Amino acid sequence: MKKAKMVISRDFQIAEIDRRIYGNFVEHLGRCVYGGIYQPNHASADEFGFRKDVIKLVKELQIPIIRYPGGNFVSNYYWEDGVGPVSERPKRLDLAWRTTETNEIGTDEFVKWCRLVNAEPMIAVNLGTRGISDARNLIEYCNHKSGSRFSDMRIKNGVKEPHNVKVWCLGNEMDGPWQIGHKTANEYGRLASETAKAMRQVDPTIELVACGSSGTFMSTFPSWEAEILDLTYDQVDYVSLHTYYGNRENNSQNFLASSEDMDNYIKTVSSVCDYIKAKKRSKKTLMLSFDEWNVWYHSNKSDDDKMKNKPWQIAPSLLEDNYTFEDALVVGLMLMTLLKHSNRVRMACMAQLVNVIAPIMTEEDGKVWRQTIFFPFQHVSKYGRGIALTPVLTSTKHDTKDFSDVNDVQSIAVWNSEHSQLVIFAVNRDQNDIIPLTCDVRDFKDYRFIEHIELKHEDLQMCNNANNENVAPKTVPLGELSNGVLKVNLKPTSWNVIRLKK
Ligand code: AHR
Repeated sequence: MKKAKMVISRDFQIAEIDRRIYGNFVEHLGRCVYGGIYQPNHASADEFGFRKDVIKLVKELQIPIIRYPGGNFVSNYYWEDGVGPVSERPKRLDLAWRTTETNEIGTDEFVKWCRLVNAEPMIAVNLGTRGISDARNLIEYCNHKSGSRFSDMRIKNGVKEPHNVKVWCLGNEMDGPWQIGHKTANEYGRLASETAKAMRQVDPTIELVACGSSGTFMSTFPSWEAEILDLTYDQVDYVSLHTYYGNRENNSQNFLASSEDMDNYIKTVSSVCDYIKAKKRSKKTLMLSFDEWNVWYHSNKSDDDKMKNKPWQIAPSLLEDNYTFEDALVVGLMLMTLLKHSNRVRMACMAQLVNVIAPIMTEEDGKVWRQTIFFPFQHVSKYGRGIALTPVLTSTKHDTKDFSDVNDVQSIAVWNSEHSQLVIFAVNRDQNDIIPLTCDVRDFKDYRFIEHIELKHEDLQMCNNANNENVAPKTVPLGELSNGVLKVNLKPTSWNVIRLKK
């Protein structure tokens, strides 16, 4: 019989969760910016042209930090194009996605929008076609108070107070041959290190992220990390990780196990960081920024055709994956993996936020709507605040095409002592059986079982659209809690949020 058991104790702590693991990402790509967050001719646009209907859903996700402006886009981006009077801003060819960038939105507008959605900006600098000088100019523009060329340029552009951007990415996916200005590890490591040095001279309070590999599929992974960290270790605070999964072979069981790859990826990168730490006799432990993660595959084929056949369009529909119910389960599993490593992963960004591989979609002249993946992200962002507790979990297991000994049930608990709340997140990966999950919660003896939220659909391939929220969470009858033992039944292929409160 399939079953799972977990012991939850406040003494088994992974870490205080850094809220920035619930970050997201806005790239100048497809309809993410234009027609996504910004659409001045839309009925819901505010005085700045930002869609208020989008802002409302973004706020529902409670996102603390948003990465910008790319992604691949940043490697040929000229930030000066996007500041100053909009009528004077040039159009430029974006080489990453072969579209035309109008520059109506730039750094100042993005930071303004971030403040409207209560998020902190995380800005990437162009280390593809540009380098040290442009990065130091941009940070001077953003963070220096006044009395210098670029800070005064910002003030002249109507932004009196510095943006105070705290987190900066030193380029994007520089290991990837597709990247404009792709570099060897040695070339990148040297450039990143010197850029970091210059940026910190302007503002010593910033935090810097070095580019790790674009994913475990890269032939240079993980020697890329070892080489670049050898050159940047003392200058940076984080190394980045990126991953996207997809059910390309129509094998749901294998797809639902793909978070195992994410788990191994984090372990490997942590080990490489610690190897460099030991090699350098350093006292500093490098943290991880998982600043691109999601499911991405539905739109691949049609996008290749679009980019080949009709380049240089303005904000065409690109990367518009319509997510299935099983994608939402994988997103839930990936979020639990981030929590499991919250002692090491201090920032993470779902990629991306609106229209482009996104939880939020817009119709050009109509509505905004929630994809299936919106819900697990919302749940973990809302309830996964506090201390991640070590999952002392025993579950029956199965093998898949690419993974062995995969737990039938994956689960983790988060304890919020301030709100006296214990939340258990759980996925039943099995497609046929209800699996009982038994949790020893004797350590939380004053807590009551208050809610069981479930995301479940009989059809793993079911999607949402502008008119139908086919896949949406609902509250289900509570299981039992007596003598410190909690028992819940997890439906086949379901996402579950189990809440206990004092
Ligand atoms: O998020 C979409 C793209 O995926 C990003 O531009 C790039 O960094 C990654 O390859």
